[in-house]
Amino acid sequence: MKHAVCPGSFDPTTNGHVDIIGRAAGLADQVTVAVLVNASKDGLFAMEERLEVLREVVAAGGHPNVEVASFSGLLVDFCRRVGADSVVKGIRAVSDFDYELKMAQLNRSLSGIETVFVPTSTEYSFLSSSLVKQVARLGGNVSALVPPGVARRLAERYPVPPADVALG
Ligand code: PNS
Repeated sequence: MKHAVCPGSFDPTTNGHVDIIGRAAGLADQVTVAVLVNASKDGLFAMEERLEVLREVVAAGGHPNVEVASFSGLLVDFCRRVGADSVVKGIRAVSDFDYELKMAQLNRSLSGIETVFVPTSTEYSFLSSSLVKQVARLGGNVSALVPPGVARRLAERYPVPPADVALG
């Protein structure tokens, strides 16, 4: 792979994303991490925050061949614009595969762009942005699941509430 795109919502970036980005950086000469601008989906983090986090992750990982960008519209059009020949996606479980396979086949039929599936490291196979947000919102500690910049931003968003225990 010469130039791969790692697309996603990254709301927020998890350690599972960090794992896939790092491994894509080892597989392709050049990697663009592409954050989808999705007007119809209410995100927790603003686009600029998502990009900031990803820039921090790339800097911390020491990946000189990885850049970060946002995109709207079709993924294959974005790939064409930046000159990418492939898409890299993480697969956590068989349940991911069903939808991801359809997207990969559709994207290839639209443009010829290939998708490479990378199996998520087992320690992150349960991890998703939506579960991270739910745990953080309910006062749980997610610092082992997300990059430090995400843990900090989530703690600002959701200060830990005093315990509310009703007995009896
Ligand atoms: O992190 P996500 O939300 O699972 O990422 C999904 C994403 C951004 C990869 C996917 O929704 C996407 O590629 N959207 C762009 C629109 C598009 O190209 N659709 C047609 C192909 S399915």
